[in-house]
This record gives sequence, structure tokens and C-alpha cells, in this order.
Amino acid sequence: MSTFQAPKGTYDLIPPNSAKYLAVREAIAAPLKNSGYGYIETPGFEDVALFARGVGESTDIVSKEMYAFETKGGDQLALRPEGTASVLRAALEANLHKAGSLPVKLWYSGSYYRYERPQKGRYRHFSQVGAEAIGAEDPALDAELIILADQAYRALGLRQFRILLNSLGCRECRPVYRDALQGFLRGLDLDEDTRARIELNPLRILDDKRADVQKQLVGAPLLRDYLCEACRTYHGEVRGLLGAAGVVYEDDEKLVRGLDYYTRTTFEFVHDGLGSQSAVGGGGRYDGLSEMIGGPALPSVGWALGVDRTVLALEAEGVELDIPAATSVFAVPIGDEARRVLFGVVTELRRAGVAADFSYGGKGLKAAMKAANRSGARYAIVAGERDLADGKVQLKDMESGEQGPVALDAVVEALSSRVLG
Ligand code: HAM
Repeated sequence: MSTFQAPKGTYDLIPPNSAKYLAVREAIAAPLKNSGYGYIETPGFEDVALFARGVGESTDIVSKEMYAFETKGGDQLALRPEGTASVLRAALEANLHKAGSLPVKLWYSGSYYRYERPQKGRYRHFSQVGAEAIGAEDPALDAELIILADQAYRALGLRQFRILLNSLGCRECRPVYRDALQGFLRGLDLDEDTRARIELNPLRILDDKRADVQKQLVGAPLLRDYLCEACRTYHGEVRGLLGAAGVVYEDDEKLVRGLDYYTRTTFEFVHDGLGSQSAVGGGGRYDGLSEMIGGPALPSVGWALGVDRTVLALEAEGVELDIPAATSVFAVPIGDEARRVLFGVVTELRRAGVAADFSYGGKGLKAAMKAANRSGARYAIVAGERDLADGKVQLKDMESGEQGPVALDAVVEALSSRVLG
């Protein structure tokens, strides 16, 4: 029988590498937890219409990449391709926007699914940590989120990332720009698919990577020149606050993003060591999304950072995360009596909060010491019958190689104070 493999476009997180993913998730979450964001978890699938309406029918995410299916009960569902629509749906459903003061600030971490053409950095199953601040129109909130993502990346040791910033205008000024852009695009020599896009989603054409398209786009009207006074002022304030916080960003008039719900502030974190899949994270304001999914007007802003690509970015920069050894103490018993006694010691150590592991499977001393080494533990405790008869165990410092006897009834205390301080 053939063995199974992870499905195409997916991969498994396996120790020791998986520790990096945990560390990245924690590093991204830490500044959010420190800034008033509460943790939210939503289902891995939703009503397909939530994404169709929220993310937009004309986006690649909805039209090509969604894992949509009908359940046995006849429900039309989709695996979530992103988190924003779900989080807003959950906040509305729980009436969080009515329960306390606004904004409602939430963070999340989880798996997302897009049926994309797999390549390095682009997977069909990937993970994000995200944040959404729902129900307030305040440039300080946009700035806060960008500052917190910047802080998370810096704390991880990343340096070669850039922040691209743009404003996509609002429901007043964007349609005027859209008209002007459509007029310009209709005069270009474009293939049929792209021409169809002019009518559906003209701003996305600005993002077209093909050189012949980009060449024709020189001279295209820029949204910057069409922003209404309110959007211009708002954007100026976001930029001012970022500048005051010492966050370096680049203005990128062509940044449009692949989801339809954005208004005003949009941004992307890109990393230059990643090749074509360079966006490690992105987000922006989505002032109309709540109404699009049947809620009241709730201007909001958020981002999601890709955990997979953040790990790749760390590797590209050669950043080694400071991940402490999972195990501090490793117990090596010689003989059955020692096995029982040291297993008891390990249990006590764990209860005292010391990370401890044990040589299982009746290994001989040599193989057991090898396992102790491999565990990364700073200390090994070794005991045979003679040690136990003397009421002692041998304590070995794996770093210095020093070894000496310690009274059995004092070993938990001795190790706790060494490890926990
Ligand atoms: P997004 O730009 O589609 O935004 O995704 C955010 C990040 O998720 C990307 O920058 C990337 O790092 C990662 N990502 C996306 N697709 C893949 C993939 N196929 N493989 C690996 N990583 C991927 C959103 O999802 C919005 N919900 C962000 C947001 C939150 N906007 C407002 N609030």
C-alpha cells in the first residue's frame, strides 16, 4: 500500500522547525495583547455568501480560490480564505459593537485556505495572525495597527521589510476616480481578460505584473489626485502619526490589494528576500464592510500577517530566533527500581514547573545519554541501584560536563532553584 502525503500546496510543521512558527505567532500577538486587543476565534468555514459579499465576487480569492462546498444538509459553505469578514460577522452576531465602547479591538490566529497555484511562499493552507479594530474612524487607529506590526517584526529581528502605504479613497471620491481610470484603460491595447477586468475591478489592473501592461499604464490617472478633502486630511494624519512614531514607510500609489472591502488607508508589509511572494502581511481600512454584510455602519481597520512567509523572511535574513530548549532536565534511570524512582522525580519536577523529560523504552546508559543530549536539556539526572541505595542521584551539568551526587530528597528543590532561579 502506498503511503499518504500532505495534500498539494500544504506542508506539515514538524519539530524542531515548528517551534519557529509558535514563536512567530507569539511575537506577533504580544504587542496586540499589550494594546487592548482581545482574542477571538471563529469557525474554519462560513456561509459562502459572507465571503462573496464581503471580499468581493470579482476578486481572485472569491472567483477562483475558494474551497466552496455544499454540506449533506444542503448548506453552501466555504473554508475561510481570510479572517476579516468572519471576525466582523462574529462581532456583529455577538453585538460586541453595542456592548461596550468602540472600537472593539480583536486579534486572531489560525489557518486559512485558498486554492492557489502552489509555489514557495504560496500555499493552499497557510496561517495568519490578524487584528481588527471595529467601529471607529480615527487615524490613530490605523497608525496604531501599522506601528504594532512594525514592532512585532522588529522584535523578531526582521530588518529587511518595507511598509507600503496608500489611500484608496472613500465611497465619495473613489467612484469618480474609477470612472477616470476606466476611461483611460479602455483606450489601451489589452487582452480580453484584462479588458473584462476594466469593467469589474479596474483598480486591480494597476497591480498587473506584466511589463507590457505596466508600460501602458504610465500616465494613468492616480487616485492621489482624486482623493476628496476628508480622505486627504485623514491620510495626512495617518502619515503624520507614523512619522512621529519613527515608523518608516513608502508611499505607493499603485498599492490596491486583492480584496474589495478596502477604503482609505491600505498598506502592505513586503520583504525583499522572498522573490515573487514578497507580501508578508497586509491590511487596511474597510469602512463599508459591515453594511455589505448586513450590519450597521462600522468603520474599521485591520491587518493580517502571514506566519508562513514571516518564517521564510526570517530564514532569508538568517535570523535565528532565541528559542529556549524545550526540556531543562532529562532523567536517565539505570534499572527498574531507578525507573520508578526517577519517573517520580520527573513528575514532581513538572509539577514544580520545571520542563523535564525521561528516557523511555528501557534504553541502555549510552543511548539514554544520547537522548539526554538531543533533548537540549541543561541537566541530566542519572541513577542506578547503588546511587539509590545511598539515597542519591547523580546530577550532570550537560553544558560544563560537571557531575556530582545530590540527595534524592533534595534533587527537585536543587533543580527547581537552578532552572527557575
Ligand atoms: P491578504 O493580503 O490576503 O489579507 O493576506 C495577508 C497575508 O497572508 C499575506 O500578506 C501573506 O503573508 C499571507 N497569505 C495570503 N495568502 C497566502 C498563501 N496562499 N500562502 C501563504 N501565505 C499567504 C487578508 O487576508 C486580509 N484579511 C487582511 C486584513 C485584515 N485586512 C484588514 N484586516
